[in-house]
Amino acid sequence: MKALLEAIEAGCEDWDLAQAIDPARLPEHVAIIMDGNGRWARRRRLPRIAGHQAGIAAVRSTVETCARLGLKVLTLYAFSVENWKRPRVEVETLWRLLRYYLRQELPELQKNDIRLQAIGRLDALAPQVRRELDAAVEATSANRGLVLNLAINYGGRAEIVDAMNAVLDMARLDGRLQSLKFDEDLISTSLYTASCPDPDLLIRTSGEMRISNFLLWQIAYAELYVTETLWPDFSRTDLLRAVLEYQKRDRRYGGLSGSPDAAPINGSAQSGDPSFVEALRPS
Ligand code: FPP
Repeated sequence: MKALLEAIEAGCEDWDLAQAIDPARLPEHVAIIMDGNGRWARRRRLPRIAGHQAGIAAVRSTVETCARLGLKVLTLYAFSVENWKRPRVEVETLWRLLRYYLRQELPELQKNDIRLQAIGRLDALAPQVRRELDAAVEATSANRGLVLNLAINYGGRAEIVDAMNAVLDMARLDGRLQSLKFDEDLISTSLYTASCPDPDLLIRTSGEMRISNFLLWQIAYAELYVTETLWPDFSRTDLLRAVLEYQKRDRRYGGLSGSPDAAPINGSAQSGDPSFVEALRPS
């Protein structure tokens, strides 16, 4: 947080936004559906791939701001299991951009103590892409600042299927198949994101009200923030606004206020309006 203020020119809008953010109530994990690259390009009469290229600058600024804010985890939806359906040229451009980003940004990730991780069905990646990704993950593995999760060839349903199959395979190996029982903890700790807290804040750019198969299990209690801003235009200001909006939310986790601990242990519901309850009493 201090690092963020040092990077902002005093007196500008970002300075005011950053001052308004409560450093004690930052989201630990922010996840982002980076949408709107195609529309950004179309509005400028450019090919779609120009939108993806422009999206790289927004990735860079978002990663830097999250690191300076002192967030623990940032997860970016870079390529979904469904994105293979796009034209070949667009798919190839997305892989080229990922490799470009890894090469270009590695020194910056190191400088800012950022640990890169990748989640998704990575075995389907072309060998060259996989090699470069693994090398960047390995090179940053000792960093202790922000964890940057790139969701690549990722699908939320595919992730749950993979987690359950991994548990079944392990149980078969250990001869525990007969007694195996699934519970929420077992599934959570078998997901690609096992080492991360669940997202507190899910941001989607470009206005669509969809989850698009992203982190389906993990976003159970995430606060959703949808902005009309198209991804290539998503700036530090937009991110700070999203964090401020998040801090205004009352997170109830199905309970009454504040935190999971505040939920009544026996699950009994209460109404804030006693006359309403009274009106329901059978005569
Ligand atoms: C959705 O916009 C965006 C994507 C499918 C890809 C996102 C990729 C990047 C921002 C660049 C590479 C990322 C990294 C992390 C190196 P869209 O094409 O669906 O936009 P539209 O809905 O307006 O058509």
